[in-house]
Amino acid sequence: MRLQNKIALVTGAARGIGEAIARTFVLEGAVVYLTDINDKLGLDVTNAIGDFAFYKRLDVRKEADWIDVISIIKSSHGKLDILVNNAGITGFEEGFVPHDPENVTLENWHEVHRTNLDGVFLGCKHAIGVMKSNGGGSIVNISSRSGIVGIPMAAAYASSKAAVRNHTKSVALYCAANNYNIRCNSIHPAAILTPMWEQMIGDGPDREAKMKEFVKETPLGRFGTTGEVAKMALYLASDESAYVTGSEFHIDGGILAGSAVTPK
Ligand code: NAI
Repeated sequence: MRLQNKIALVTGAARGIGEAIARTFVLEGAVVYLTDINDKLGLDVTNAIGDFAFYKRLDVRKEADWIDVISIIKSSHGKLDILVNNAGITGFEEGFVPHDPENVTLENWHEVHRTNLDGVFLGCKHAIGVMKSNGGGSIVNISSRSGIVGIPMAAAYASSKAAVRNHTKSVALYCAANNYNIRCNSIHPAAILTPMWEQMIGDGPDREAKMKEFVKETPLGRFGTTGEVAKMALYLASDESAYVTGSEFHIDGGILAGSAVTPK
């Protein structure tokens, strides 16, 4: 029970990494607000998790949604201890469109930043407001390995995730300087098997071969699991990480440890 008596909000929690984080937090004693724009899936998942889980619609791009959900949490529980800014998009949700630096449209560029960056900015902004009045809290931002390295065919995604990495540090330093007792850290996953990948992998006879191809340069030679990311978020959300702020945590099977050109 590493999160006993904690109130948590997780964005993009209807599936994938967000769902796993919500499940893990409830198992560790937290009351968790799962939020998403996929209400049907969000409600089904929340009902399956049980009594300590609640579902609210929260489109991370909309400031009014943040204000609504946080005020509901405040009036129901008097506090918010944990925010996980997890919702994110690649820009390829509706199919392939160019996302390289030369051909990405301004509209598609903005669309990715609105969810991945504006969403995190708004979450931090409104969480600080409530957390500082309840003695502190922990904000966990889900960035990506793509926030550390360039990704030529997904430039908007990489740019937005790099900005999340940096904004995390600004939030951490700001809260520390103001003695808010609010910590803020980023997690940088790579190749975690979630519905985000399903579109690219498909369920044809070549599924196994495609999966192998995607992780052929991952030192550990496999996809990571959502549960593995959830365990990292759990550490950062809990009081065990009380001395950790402004830091970045990689969970990528070793990809960032070396370089593809390293001689064998
Ligand atoms: P996913 O696509 O399976 O789930 C994302 C969830 O976010 C969905 O339920 C979706 O409805 C929700 N969402 C999308 N736009 C939203 C909005 N405007 N407001 C609220 N919710 C919204 O994705 P996955 O794989 O679980 O990714 C979660 C986070 O982890 C994302 O930020 C992603 O960029 C990041 N990540 C994932 C990696 C992976 O390999 N799966 C690797 C690196 C980072």
